Amino acid sequence: MTVEVATKAPAAPTPFELFGGAVAVRKLVDRFYDLMEGDPDYAALRALHAADLDPMRDSLTGFLIAWLGGPRDWFDARPGGPCVMSMHRKVAIDSTVADQWLFAMSRALDSCAIDAPLRSAIITAFTRMAGGMVNR
Ligand code: HEM
Repeated sequence: MTVEVATKAPAAPTPFELFGGAVAVRKLVDRFYDLMEGDPDYAALRALHAADLDPMRDSLTGFLIAWLGGPRDWFDARPGGPCVMSMHRKVAIDSTVADQWLFAMSRALDSCAIDAPLRSAIITAFTRMAGGMVNR
């Protein structure tokens, strides 16, 4: 007699898990805004933001957690399915500030313990998104 055992392949880890979870995402975001606040190279980008960056630290962390495939609290707290691209229409974004965003984020990613393929996939996606946000 043969016994059939239902086997299920373990689910592949999400980018969120590969990234190191919520603590690692928060670390990335804090590094990103610390660079933006402290390095004059990002002065034009900093000037677009409100004086208090704490709400943005929370919001970008929540967005990236969901975007990487983690818990979707950021979207759940914003009914109507907000589009992060559309949320930037009111911001005057030229290629200079888009580049500043990407340089700061790239430097912030350097402090993350992630492998090269994940880093490269994230940077490719951010480059596409930032390019699509340029409206000046
Ligand atoms: C292209 C360069 C970018 C510029 C110049 C820019 C600028 C801004 C500004 C000025 C704000 C509002 C900050 C405030 O009110 O203090 C903001 C919010 C935000 N940005 Fe960007 N951003 C850029 C790219 C991105 C990208 C690529 C992402 C996603 C990967 C992103 C995600 C967010 C999120 C989640 C918020 C918070 C929205 C909210 O809670 O209202 N941004 N951004």
